[in-house]
Amino acid sequence: MRNKNAQIFNKVIFASCEQMLELADESVHLMVTSPPYFNAPFDYQNVFPDYESYLRLIRNFARETFRVLQKGRIAVVNCDDMLVEGEKYPIVADVTRIFLDAGFRYRDKIIWKKPEGYIRISRRSGLLLQHPYPMYFYPDNLQESILIFQKGKYKYPPPNRESMVDKEEYLRQKWFLSVWEMTNQLPTGKEDYPAAFPPALPYRIIKLFSNVGEVVLDPFLGSGTTMKVARETKRSCIGYEIDPSLRPIIEAKVSPNAVAGNLTEFLSR
Ligand SMILES: C[S@@+](CC[C@H](N)C(=O)[O-])C[C@H]1O[C@@H](n2cnc3c(N)ncnc32)[C@H](O)[C@@H]1O
Repeated sequence: MRNKNAQIFNKVIFASCEQMLELADESVHLMVTSPPYFNAPFDYQNVFPDYESYLRLIRNFARETFRVLQKGRIAVVNCDDMLVEGEKYPIVADVTRIFLDAGFRYRDKIIWKKPEGYIRISRRSGLLLQHPYPMYFYPDNLQESILIFQKGKYKYPPPNRESMVDKEEYLRQKWFLSVWEMTNQLPTGKEDYPAAFPPALPYRIIKLFSNVGEVVLDPFLGSGTTMKVARETKRSCIGYEIDPSLRPIIEAKVSPNAVAGNLTEFLSR
């Protein structure tokens, strides 16, 4: 049961999540994140020298997540296979393997289905219309994977009304399906950040896998979407982010609802 006097807090640490030195073992109740997309055209072009260095980052982040997460708790990774210079990289399969190797159980996979008509990179499928013959088929991508891992078995506590999932919302928005239809976040003038996920994603995960007053970790915080939603749902949040220039974007996202005693702390090593 939550200690009602416990303060909700937000902490942003500008450092690599490959070593979460600031976090004690088993100090976090839920991890939800979206790692950088491997050398994605436009946003992450040539960030990683090769695929192996990308996988090394994922391995280190998986190992640290396992260490800091409490027993029985959930780690959620939103990711997608990536097409780079004509080669398709099996990121969903590799992330799954890496998390299993780090000690997690594989609990579920949700497909995030984006609205049709949203095609970010190219109309690959158009090739077949130019060459309507076998072997010219390349589908346009409308999905990402939300991988759900668990650290051992959860000991269910007595029900706590404060953290109850809204059954009406659950049914109306069809959270019970393994395909979630959510509109992707497009960069706006206000928030010129290209890689944010929609708040609906951490919202559902936080509601489904954490209790009010618990600590949510986002090791690739980006613009701070997870932190904003954690605050709105009365959870504390710790975020790691390697790029300190994102601070004003995070502040703008997190601060509008700041209440006294609930400010965001920014740290760097
Ligand atoms: C896909 S974005 C996350 C977007 C976030 N979910 C949001 O809604 O804004 C990935 C972020 O990870 C950050 N990043 C990359 N390598 C990192 C590392 N080693 N440690 C921490 N953050 C890192 C990038 O700077 C980028 O902002």
